[in-house]
Amino acid sequence: MVKVAVLVSGGGTNLQALIDAEKVGKIKNGKISLVVSSKVDAFALERSKKTGITTKVVLKSDFCDNESYNEALIELLKKEDIGLIVLAGFMTVLSKKFCKSFNNKIINVHPSLIPSFCGDGYYGLRVHEEVLKKGVKVTGATVHFVNEITDGGAIIAQKAVNVKDDDTAEVLQKRVMKEAEHVLLPEVTSLFCEGKIIVKNSIAYIKK
Ligand code: GRF
Repeated sequence: MVKVAVLVSGGGTNLQALIDAEKVGKIKNGKISLVVSSKVDAFALERSKKTGITTKVVLKSDFCDNESYNEALIELLKKEDIGLIVLAGFMTVLSKKFCKSFNNKIINVHPSLIPSFCGDGYYGLRVHEEVLKKGVKVTGATVHFVNEITDGGAIIAQKAVNVKDDDTAEVLQKRVMKEAEHVLLPEVTSLFCEGKIIVKNSIAYIKK
């Protein structure tokens, strides 16, 4: 059984999708064992406490720099013997050392079809605002491995969502979450725990 840690900073709807999937047996060979929040008031904390998952708040402000903050996270995740780290709205840039310590063991969900609308500064509503500004007709979500380049790791799975003429960024964000993020993230988490994802020459493949 792979021990899964979910790192959060906000509302935690993706965490909820994972919790719900686990409840109905859709996370095969995996168990959400730890939730780590970088914010004390993240609603995601309420969701994890309700289900009895071990929950920790690790605040950046308690450390002198980003490097020592990352060290503390590495230590915690190693101590808990975590086999998969899921970034579900975690608003902190992970250090090189963190990424190397868990090479191809960290996944992130991004609310666009990478390589569009991603990279530094593309988070939250901003992604969807830029999608609408550009007038693209299809957007979606991507689950990818995490390396030291923002949104730059191997792409594991993507799901498309149509953009409508009357969409606002808020409406589009909700649709991308519901139709794509909340579907993809549990699916990929399960595939990882089942040992079905392989990476060759920086490209991820799913074993049939
Ligand atoms: C999601 O849009 C996710 O794609 C991005 O951060 C947001 C987190 O939302 N990385 P939630 O906290 O899971 O509701």
